[in-house]
This record gives sequence, structure tokens and C-alpha cells, in this order.
Amino acid sequence: MNSTTGASRRSLELRLEGVSKRFGTVTALERADLTVEPGLLLSLLGPSGCGKTTTLRIIAGFEAPDTGQVVIDGHDVSLLPPNKRGLGMVFQNYSLFPHMTVGQNIAFGLKMARTGADEIRRRVGEMLDLVHLPGHEERFPHQLSGGQQQRVALARSLVTNPSVLLLDEPLGALDKNLRENMQFELRRIQQTLGITTILVTHDQEEALTLSDRVVVMNEGRILQVGAPNDVYEYPRTRFVSEFLGTSNLFEGRIEARNGGGARNFAVQLADRTMVLRVTAEDDVAEGPATMAVRPEKMTPSEHRPENGNVLEGQVLGHVFRGSYHAYEVTLAGREDPVFVYSQARSRSGDQVFKPGQRVHLSWSEEDSVILTQD
Ligand SMILES: Nc1ncnc2c1ncn2[C@@H]1O[C@H](COP(=O)(O)OP(=O)(O)OP(=O)(O)O)[C@@H](O)[C@H]1O
Ligand SMILES: [Mg+2]
Repeated sequence: MNSTTGASRRSLELRLEGVSKRFGTVTALERADLTVEPGLLLSLLGPSGCGKTTTLRIIAGFEAPDTGQVVIDGHDVSLLPPNKRGLGMVFQNYSLFPHMTVGQNIAFGLKMARTGADEIRRRVGEMLDLVHLPGHEERFPHQLSGGQQQRVALARSLVTNPSVLLLDEPLGALDKNLRENMQFELRRIQQTLGITTILVTHDQEEALTLSDRVVVMNEGRILQVGAPNDVYEYPRTRFVSEFLGTSNLFEGRIEARNGGGARNFAVQLADRTMVLRVTAEDDVAEGPATMAVRPEKMTPSEHRPENGNVLEGQVLGHVFRGSYHAYEVTLAGREDPVFVYSQARSRSGDQVFKPGQRVHLSWSEEDSVILTQD
């Protein structure tokens, strides 16, 4: 699709239209529709077995879909073999060729395309600069750290100047610090090239940090697509809400319209009905509903605050997590504890609530979300 000279790279749109795939009785992918806009990084996020790798393999052409098509730059590529689709791919758990040097690993795709020796040397040098490993041509993979090996794998997938980059858990094997470091690095490279990219991960934080768009999948279905902030703050389902970090869910009833988008949400706690305020879309109907509130949206305090939604409870547990304090709080009449995260602001000590202490939890009405789907 592109020449192998760095100048002609384009940002292309990638689309899946009604793509399904079964393996025997397992539905790996169910009528998936998806658009990746040119030059954006989209991540596929979901638990093990939800169909992420299958989606990538169908896009790459290693697997044929039962229904639907893969469209790149407006062209249906469903019948093209993998090497004619103009894609670069880093596979899940797929390491470098161990018996080849870094230079030979990166040059592999160019050799296959019968590129001349001078051009290969130039491109390999360019790729090593791009991934910040200049001068490492002669090393063997076992002489590199895990992070460096991943950079080489990335360089190898980019050397043929693909128009779309597919990455299957590229940072999965790295420890936390290195992983965070590589997330920035990956984002820098992707944005420098402006290359349309799909990243598979089952790490929520990674998906939120790296992406322009996040796709949450479960059991072969796409549940929600949106900007990271959007899927995190406005999940539509219980699954999305809980998969993207911790969420406190309350079962209750939407009672009445209150004007200005706010509603009353009644929660039964033991023998008391607590009326909370929520901001909800117009299409949210009166009746039974689930409300979600993120732990960091709740503020713990000793004295009852004047404004906002307030619930009173008792601290069950406290842990310090470096940048914040995490509390488990029990509410009378509710089985599951409520999680509350409170920023650690001061080195000399924040007010810390101890197990057994009474505490008020407050949050504002726009920080509650009504889940509108099952
Ligand atoms: N070649 C195959 N033959 C039979 N079943 C398969 C095959 N490939 C995938 N599956 C099944 O399809 C489903 C989706 O698999 P897939 O590899 O796409 O999941 P995943 O989301 O990538 O999971 P993980 O996070 O563990 O990598 C799983 O139930 C898996 O067992
Ligand atoms: Mg997988």
C-alpha cells in the first residue's frame, strides 16, 4: 500500500463492518462494528477470552471472519492476504528471532520485500533512532532488557512503513515502572508517525492513559466506545463501570424530574429511604435503576457537610496507597462496603480516618451516573 520510504506514510481509516467469528460453539466476536479514525490510537480492552486477539487477527488477515468485512481507507481488504494489507503487527507474547541480531530482526520485513542493502541499512538506522536505540544493530535479543526488546519488536513492525499498526499486549511482559515508561514511549512514536493504531490490552489504566478511543469488550461483544474520559466517567453498563476501575453501585429508584437535568434517586438503607440527587440524561425514566459513583468522587469527613449527597457510615478499613488513602466504609442496611479514595496531599499528614470511626461521605449530584443498560 505504501512505499518503504518514510515520506509517504499516510494516516488511514480502518473499519470493521458486522464482523462475526465462531470457533465451534464459542462466539469469539459477535457482529462487531468499529471505526478507527485516521491517525488515532484505539485500544481494545476486556477480560481474557473476550475476543481481542481474534479481532486483531481478523484485521491482519490471519483469520477469516464468518460474516462482515474489514475496510481500510475505504477499500474492502477482507480477501487480501496478510502481506498485502499494509499492516504492522506486534504479536501477543511473540518475541524477537533469538538467533538474529537486532539489525537482522528489524530488517526482516524489508528482506522479504527484496529491498536493496543500502536502503535496508538506512531504514534500520532510522527505526533504531525512532525507538531510541541507536547503535544497537549488532546486539542479540538476549543482550537487551525486556523494554529494549519491545522497542525492537516495535521497530520491526514499523520498518515496512505500514498504514495501520496492530499491537497485541505489547507491554504485557514488562514490570510496572518499565511499562509506564514504555507507555509514554509508545504514544510518542505513534503520534510522531501519525499512524492509525489498534492496541490490545487487558490493563484498564494502560487503555485510559494511551488511547484516543477506548473500546470495552466482553464475551465477543463491543459494549462501549468512547474517549478515555468518557467511558470512565459515563459508563452505560455495570460491566463497563466496574471494569474501568472501582465503582460503588447503588440499587434504587429514579423518582421524579426536578428540572435542570437533576433527579431524585431513592435508596433504601435498612429502615430509611435516603434521597440522593443525580444528574441524568432526559431519556432516563422513572423506576428502578442503578447508580454508580467512583471512589475518588466521594469525600470523607468527620462533620456532616451542608451540601451535596451525604451518607453516613463507619470505617471498616484503611490503606495508604502512596498517592491516596483508600477506605472501606460500611453503611447500615447495605451489605457491600463503599470504597472511598482520598488524595494524600500533605507530607506531614492528612486527616486519616481509623477503623471503627463514624464518617460522612459526600459527593455532588453530577458525580453520580445512572447506568442505562444492563
Ligand atoms: N483458533 C481457535 N480455536 C478455537 N477457539 C479459539 C481460537 N482462537 C480463539 N478461540 C476462542 O475464542 C475466544 C476469544 O479468544 P481471543 O484469543 O480472541 O481472546 P483475548 O481477548 O485475546 O484473550 P486474552 O486476553 O487471554 O489474550 C476464546 O474463548 C478462545 O478460547
Ligand atoms: Mg489475546
